[in-house]
Amino acid sequence: MKIKTMRELFLEQIRDLYSGETQIVKALPKMVEAASNEELREGFSEHLQQTQTHVARLEDIFTRLDEKPGGVKCVGMEGVLKEGEEMIDDTEPGSVRDAGLIAAAQRVEHYEMAGYGSAREFARQLGDISAVQLLEETLEEEKETDERLTEIAMSVVNDEANAGGAKISTGRAGFLG
Ligand SMILES: [Fe+2]
Repeated sequence: MKIKTMRELFLEQIRDLYSGETQIVKALPKMVEAASNEELREGFSEHLQQTQTHVARLEDIFTRLDEKPGGVKCVGMEGVLKEGEEMIDDTEPGSVRDAGLIAAAQRVEHYEMAGYGSAREFARQLGDISAVQLLEETLEEEKETDERLTEIAMSVVNDEANAGGAKISTGRAGFLG
C-alpha cells in the first residue's frame, strides 16, 4: 500500500527510526568492546543506555497513536553500522581503531539526527505536541553524543593515533609556518 498521507508518512518515518535504534542497541556493545580509550568506552556505554531510552520514547509515541512499531527495516542504518563493523575487522585495538570507531559512530549520529529532525517536523505538522517533545529530546541527545565524540577525537584520540606519524604536507601548511 502506498503512503498517501502525512500521518502515514510520519508513521513510516518513526518505524524506520525504531528499526535504526534497535539495530544500534545490538551494535553498541561491540563498539564498547572494540574501543581502547576509556572515555570512548564510557561514551559508547552511556549512549547504549540512552539508546534504550530512545527506543522507549518511540514506543511511547506508537502507544499514544494506537499503532505498532514493526514492519519497516532501516537499511540505511544497517549499512552505516556495517561500516562500523568493517572498521573493527580492518584495525587492531588501539588509538587508530578508536579514531575510526569515532568516525563510524558520528555517521550513525548524523544519520539519526537527520531522521529525528524530519520526524519532529512531521509531528509538528500533525499537531502531535507530545511526539514533537519526545522526538526533540532524543534529537538533542543525539547532538550531544555527536559533540562528545568530536571532543574525544580532538582532545586525545586523533593525536594519539597520529603520534609519531608524518603530517601530510599541503604546501599551504608549510607556508603558514
Ligand atoms: Fe538514538
